[in-house]
Order: sequence, then C-alpha cells, then structure tokens
Amino acid sequence: MCGIVGYLGFRRADEVIISSLKRLEYRGYDSWGVAIGNGKLSLVKKVGAIGDVEEYSIGDGTLGVGHTRWATHGKPSESNAHPHTDCKNNIAVVHNGIISNFQMLKEKLIEEGHEFKSETDTEVIPHLIEKYYKNSIEDAVINCIVNLRGSYAFVAMCANERKLVACRYKSPLILGVGDKEFFLASDVTAILEYTSRIVYLQDGDIVILTDDGFKILNDCVEVDRQIELVPWGIKDAKKSGYDHFMIKEIHETPKVVEDTLSEYVSDEIELDVSFAAGISEILIIACGTSYHAGLIGKYVIEGLTGIPVRVEYASEFNYHPLLVGRPLAIAITQSGETADTLEAMKKAKKFGARVVTITNVLGSTATRIADHTLYIRAGPEICVAATKSFIAQLIVLYVLALKLANLPRHEINELILELKLIPERIQRILDAKDEIEKIAKRLAKFENMMYVGRGIGYPIALEGALKMKEISYIHAEGYPAGELKHGPFALLGEKTPVIASVIEDPTYEIMLNNIKEVKARDSIVVAIANEDDKEIDKYVDWVVKVPKTNPMFSPITQSVALQILAYYTAKERGCEIDKPRHLAKSVTVE
Ligand code: AGP
Ligand code: GLU
Repeated sequence: MCGIVGYLGFRRADEVIISSLKRLEYRGYDSWGVAIGNGKLSLVKKVGAIGDVEEYSIGDGTLGVGHTRWATHGKPSESNAHPHTDCKNNIAVVHNGIISNFQMLKEKLIEEGHEFKSETDTEVIPHLIEKYYKNSIEDAVINCIVNLRGSYAFVAMCANERKLVACRYKSPLILGVGDKEFFLASDVTAILEYTSRIVYLQDGDIVILTDDGFKILNDCVEVDRQIELVPWGIKDAKKSGYDHFMIKEIHETPKVVEDTLSEYVSDEIELDVSFAAGISEILIIACGTSYHAGLIGKYVIEGLTGIPVRVEYASEFNYHPLLVGRPLAIAITQSGETADTLEAMKKAKKFGARVVTITNVLGSTATRIADHTLYIRAGPEICVAATKSFIAQLIVLYVLALKLANLPRHEINELILELKLIPERIQRILDAKDEIEKIAKRLAKFENMMYVGRGIGYPIALEGALKMKEISYIHAEGYPAGELKHGPFALLGEKTPVIASVIEDPTYEIMLNNIKEVKARDSIVVAIANEDDKEIDKYVDWVVKVPKTNPMFSPITQSVALQILAYYTAKERGCEIDKPRHLAKSVTVE
C-alpha cells in the first residue's frame, strides 16, 4: 500500500510534500518520511501518522520525495520508514509495492560491499541505483529496474542532480503537471490543491522530471501520454467542517446517486450494453465492500433478467478460476487498484471472458485491463471504509440490470422513477441521523454483534457487519437469518445484539419468525425496517426506520442507515474511524 509523493518546482518542497502526504494517509500511516534535495539530501523519518504533524521544516529545497507507509517488509520503525538511501546517502527512494526478489538482490549487493540499514524490500532499489550510477540518475534507474521483480511505483532522486525519476509497474502512480512545477503521487487527491492536470502513468512507464519539463519512456522509447483534466476539486479532499471524512462522505451520497444516475439515465436508460450481447452467464469478481455490492447485484440481475450470476471473491477466484462458457465478467473496484481484483480480471480475460469494470477512478489500472469501463461518480473517497462509493456501485448495477431486463416498458419506467427518488429518501435518513446515533450509543458497549438478513437482506447484513467491525473494532458477523439455528444460535444472549435487516418482500414473515427465535435467546434485536412498518415494533427492542422504497432498492436505504449506525458506534467508542488500525484504502498487494 503506502502513499508516495515527489515534487519538483519553485515552492518549498517539504511543505508541498507533507500536505500531499496527509491526503495520502489513507493508504498507510504507520510511519512517514521526506527527503529534500538541495546539493545534499536532508532526510527526516518518523514513526506514527503524518496527519499528526503540524509544521515541519526539513530544508528549503524545491525538490524532494515523501512517503507514508503501510509496512509489508519490516515492522514500522524509523529505520524501515522511507525514503531509503544508498550507502553514501546521496540517493533517496520512496516506494509503493513489493520487490519479490529482494532477498536475492540484497545478498548479492551485500557481497558487493553495500551496507543495508533496514529490513525492507525497498532498500535494494537505492543500492542498485548506486551500483549503476555514473553521472545520471536516469540511466542508473533504467539499469536498476531490469533487476526488479514484483510490483513498484517508486520515485528516486540524487542529491547532486536537479531531477526526479519515477517508475510504475503494477502499483499506481500519477504525474501532476502544474505551471513550472511537477508532482508525482500515488493518487490524484494528494495534489488536487496544486493542479488538476494529470497524466495517468502506465505499467512500464519511466518519468523523468526536470525544470524544463517531463519525459516519459516505456520500453526505452519516449512515449506521449495525454494530460487529462480531473473533474475533482480540493474541497473534495477536505473534511469541510465534518468531524470525519466518513460522515462527510455519507452526507455526499444523495449527490453521488444523482451524479451516477445522470451518467446513465435520462428519461430512459442510456447505457450501451453491447458488451453483454449474447451472454448467458455473468461472473462478478471483487473484494470487501465491492464484493457485497456484487452479491446485491446478483439478486437484482438474476431477479430482473434470469441471467445466472456467480459472485466470487477475487482473491479466491485467482486460485480456482473455473469458467464455464465465456461469461461476462464484471469487476467491481472503487479504487481500480485492488491487486486481487486486477489479477482476477486478467485471469477472466485469459479464459475468454469479456471484462467490464465498475470503478470510481479515472485511468486506474482496472480501466486499462477491462474491455469496457462503467464509472461511478462518487468523487474522491478518503475514509478507508467505503460508503458513498458502495451506494454508487449499486446504482450502476441496478441500471445495468434494468437495461438487460426483459420487462414491459411501463415497469422499467416505474423502476427508473423510483430510482430517481432515491437521493431524496437517503436525505431523509441523513436528516434523522440523530435517532440512529441514539441507538449507536447503546450498542457501543458490546463486543460482539450479529447482523442478519434474508434474500437481498443477507448481503445488506454482510456489509453492515463489515462496516461495523472495520471502524468500531466490534466483532460483527453477517449471517443469513435462516442459518442462525445451524450453529450461531450458540453465541446469542444478552451480550450479543442482533441487527436485523427487515425487507417487505416475500421474506418478511419468515424474518419475523427468525427475530422471535432470536428474542427467545435473550439477544437485543435492532431492526432496520420501513418507516410505515408498525408490526415490527412489537418484536424488537429498537428500530431504525428508513423510507419505504421498492424492496429491490432497500439495500441502498438500509445500507446508508447501517453506515451511520457503524459511524456513531465507532465514534462513541473513541475510534479513529477514517483510518482504522491495520487497514488501508486500496490493497495493492495480494
Ligand atoms: C470497505 O469498507 C473496505 N475498506 C474494503 O473492503 C474495500 O471495499 C476493498 O478493499 C475493495 O476495495 P476496492 O473497491 O477499491 O477494490
Ligand atoms: N514494501 C515496502 C515496505 O514494506 C512498501 C510497502 C507497500 O507499498 O505496501 O516498506
């Protein structure tokens, strides 16, 4: 994971780099470091989160690199923090990824007399550059990367050259182009304050930055890459008065739904589904929350179209990629950079599947692997826990299902109309969030929770539990309500509240029975139910009311309510929320 930054321009590099690293902190936050070049290297490395740093002066140079780390090799410590340097402290490197053959390279370099100061895989890079360095960092980097296996986005600098050299291979890296200044970063949000003119680098690209401009090489040949204008602004990357990015991002959901819908729907659905022509099966591959969006997609697509949908964790699919026929593969990934999902997309392609990705990030690796991209319009999502992007993924899946559905026109029109009312329904949940907060405060004292649902309510339960566990550290499990009696009943009791997703569809009656069974085992039950459902109050302890919608769309309203529930529970427990322990926003390693 990790976030990397490089700057070459006219401003104080330490200020630019520290402010940019703070915006990348969601990618890693166990330690950080910055190197500034001004004839010599000024280097600072610290354990802890860069977000806690107020002001820090490292040197008045206008060229430098920085890193915020999520350790893969070597524990978080000052010596393992990046930038890593060569023996003479002349060359500094920040790296995101894993050098898989580092052990062999390290042993060889040690034999050749290099002295290592860290346990990281990364440190082989500055030593290799040192080994090949004659008088040009550019040439030395080109020789260095021939030796590297694994994944990397790295930026290298040398104290006596006014130049930055960066390489991208399987880890994200973008180039920001300002007026007489250049930025390198893992993600555009890092540099939105300075520029929105972005070059999305591709695997194998080597960028050379000097005061005169930039040059990109790929396979030793200079290549042209387009400068794109990102539609996001700096306010998208700030908390704007909210306590946390998570609650800010939940509040943005109505607008995100509107934006995503208007991308694909006007009076009718304008999504071109030629990529689905002739398919008889769909395979959805994703991780985490995106996987849960896929599960909901399965219920919706199968329900509306009759096309069988298989949903696989990308990490599992990669080791058991059985494909019958040539399905349409849909890879769902907010970041477009999740290593397991990217690998699964490649596998699916290899087996002859057509691959479509649903993603939030323009130019991300997923968009380059996919045959076709469906963008969600969620804007930057900074909080590690996915919220608005999950809802936007659902919107695209609904639109896709409706477009593929063989329903009479008037039925489709009614469903489109209902979808268009979703932003207003979500807003009503947000307006009544204090009620959810009250329940959250009561739940905050528990250490275990069970989330249950039936039918489309089951993936809602899975996602509700994931949100709760990742930000509040309460052990929360999602279960199909009917499965409780096959084992998990043993865990019920006063200390294990059960959060029940109650949907007014054919599962309603049986769900009430399941709730009674749970109550008979002394668990507190919190239901998420429609606001006009009077019946439910009789059976449960507390109810989170959500506006009524077509049951098919209830994953949207219920999930927003469950996100708010998780948020306030975590807040009551004093958790960090935006950057939960041990987690990072995009998991770019397998
Ligand atoms: C969501 O709250 C999690 N942080 C995580 O499960 C995430 O959804 C998963 O890592 C997949 O990310 P992606 O959508 O960027 O591929
Ligand atoms: N492998 C490097 C380290 O452990 C970078 C980690 C990463 O990018 O995830 O420091």
